[in-house]
Amino acid sequence: MLITFEGIDFCGKTTQIKLLSEYLIRKKKKVITIREPGGTEIAETLRQILLEPKNKMNSFTELFLFEAARSDLVEKVIKPALTEGSIVLCDRFWDSTIAYQVFGRKLPEDFVNQCNFYSSQGIKPDITFLIDISLETMLRRSKSLKIDRFENEEAEFIKNVIEGFRTIAKLNQSRFVILDGDEPIEEIHKRIVEVLSNKFGL
Ligand code: TMP
Repeated sequence: MLITFEGIDFCGKTTQIKLLSEYLIRKKKKVITIREPGGTEIAETLRQILLEPKNKMNSFTELFLFEAARSDLVEKVIKPALTEGSIVLCDRFWDSTIAYQVFGRKLPEDFVNQCNFYSSQGIKPDITFLIDISLETMLRRSKSLKIDRFENEEAEFIKNVIEGFRTIAKLNQSRFVILDGDEPIEEIHKRIVEVLSNKFGL
């Protein structure tokens, strides 16, 4: 089973994934946690290239690097884990590419969808948690944390990405669960566990 977490930087995905992973391990489930881009040697190298502020690149170069990282991760980690029956918790998947590269960078949607389909070998998340925060919350939280190339982007870009995630979630209501990222960490975790237990008996 593939469970993905989406949202803009500083929404709290990583914390929630850690809490969920600990919960599932306590329940004796086989769990693996990965992040995108990353999770294999090649994908981690691509991550470094993508997040290095001095690496300037056009939007297609960026798209292809994200897709290349995903293709390697799906082939070497996600597919084998799903085949052996593990629960895969993924910090971002191709919904991020739609939000950032289509809504943010304005790349053509059909083309990006095709890239996403082939890089993920048609794998679709069973459920996706969108942790929704506003631009103001993101800016407030980001002050004390390190800045990378994406977190330097202007407000307009981030606003479009936020809108992108909300739109994707609305269009895919059977797969998406929207969580208010301003809620306390424990409340969000409780809600995630509640949804997974109701929907999948986890
Ligand atoms: P993160 O690991 O901190 O979430 O950083 C990854 C960054 O890459 C984040 O700003 C979102 C961005 N990103 C895209 O623009 N497109 C993608 O397809 C993915 C997976 C991430």
